[in-house]
Amino acid sequence: MQNVRVEKLVKRFGEVVAVDGISFEVPKGKLLTLLGPSGCGKTTTLNIIAGFETPDDGDVHVGERLISSATENVLVPAHKRNLGMVFQSYGLWPHLRVRDNVAFGLQMRKTPKSEIAGAVERALGLVRLDGLGERYPSQLSGGQQQRVAIARALVYEPDVLLLDEPLSNLDAALREEMRLELKDLQTQSGITTIFVTHDQVEAMVMSDIIVVMNEGRIEQMGSPSDVYQHPANEFVAGFVGISNFLEGEVVATGVGEGQTAVKVGEVTLLCKSAGVPEGSKALLSIRPEDCVASQEAPPEGTPNVIKCTVDKAVYMGGVLELWLSASGQKIRVHGHRLPILESGASVYVSIDPASISAIKGGSST
Ligand SMILES: Nc1ncnc2c1ncn2[C@@H]1O[C@H](COP(=O)(O)OP(=O)(O)O)[C@@H](O)[C@H]1O
Ligand SMILES: [Mg+2]
Repeated sequence: MQNVRVEKLVKRFGEVVAVDGISFEVPKGKLLTLLGPSGCGKTTTLNIIAGFETPDDGDVHVGERLISSATENVLVPAHKRNLGMVFQSYGLWPHLRVRDNVAFGLQMRKTPKSEIAGAVERALGLVRLDGLGERYPSQLSGGQQQRVAIARALVYEPDVLLLDEPLSNLDAALREEMRLELKDLQTQSGITTIFVTHDQVEAMVMSDIIVVMNEGRIEQMGSPSDVYQHPANEFVAGFVGISNFLEGEVVATGVGEGQTAVKVGEVTLLCKSAGVPEGSKALLSIRPEDCVASQEAPPEGTPNVIKCTVDKAVYMGGVLELWLSASGQKIRVHGHRLPILESGASVYVSIDPASISAIKGGSST
């Protein structure tokens, strides 16, 4: 088991800066996810680590071993890096049986024949494909093919597993099942893993660390709950989950238990302290599930209550999705135990100060 260190990686394709000086570390045995929209540089980063792409700058270490360095002119060929890679398209050989697809990496590495059969069986067992070694890929379901690709990457006991959107070709139900299965496999085998996805729920479920990428750069790096509960900026708050953004101005800092007071329209909301100074514009990020909607006005003087008008109410079974307006700004809320409200009705939305993140900025700055 090894850690992976990526330092100041840069990759350009002509005018396009696909990877713009990113650095991160995957601790031994952990799963780190590169999460971001299409085109943000996830695959390019993974391909540089795998050795399929030559970086313009930066270093990659696996454990103590320098496998790629633009400054020191080191470029270990892909097949000598001992990394297992799984591609979005699986990349199985259709003319080879499952067993031979999995054995391929071992044959390439000149593993003695006597050891290959056992290793292949173990790898197939790990991904719950025991007994299917004689089939051809076309005789397997999409999920099973994906597992063959994973077995093929694990069979030679790589130091690191690299997974590029491995679940995105599966239908929704199977994808959810495979997510948990893959996470269990990773935890049990303890293999250091870099996982690439554009799906924020997948990233939440699977990761020890999430690296949120945008336009070749890192916007935030942290645990799933860090990234979700304390988004570093508007991009992260908007990309990871649904967020409401309210524009306001900081009127006081260090209120109560170190909270910040932000004036939004006619109301002043208390938020988590965020290092935004008094007098500056602030953008508040609030998750719909952290808002409590009620038809009754709370007692006079209750803090953090916004009186809103219902624009639209969508009945969704367990919750009522409410699209609201207040002081010219839009808020989306999940209502519980409410009747189906008409457009134009009034509701009172209460928000715990600990659930409001103040981010510097706002469109008027
Ligand atoms: N071989 C290539 N030639 C030219 N441009 C490329 C090449 N590979 C990737 N790019 C560009 O680099 C950027 C990042 O691509 P990629 O790493 O594939 O993003 P992601 O995997 O996050 O969708 C995109 O703008 C893409 O068009
Ligand atoms: Mg990609």
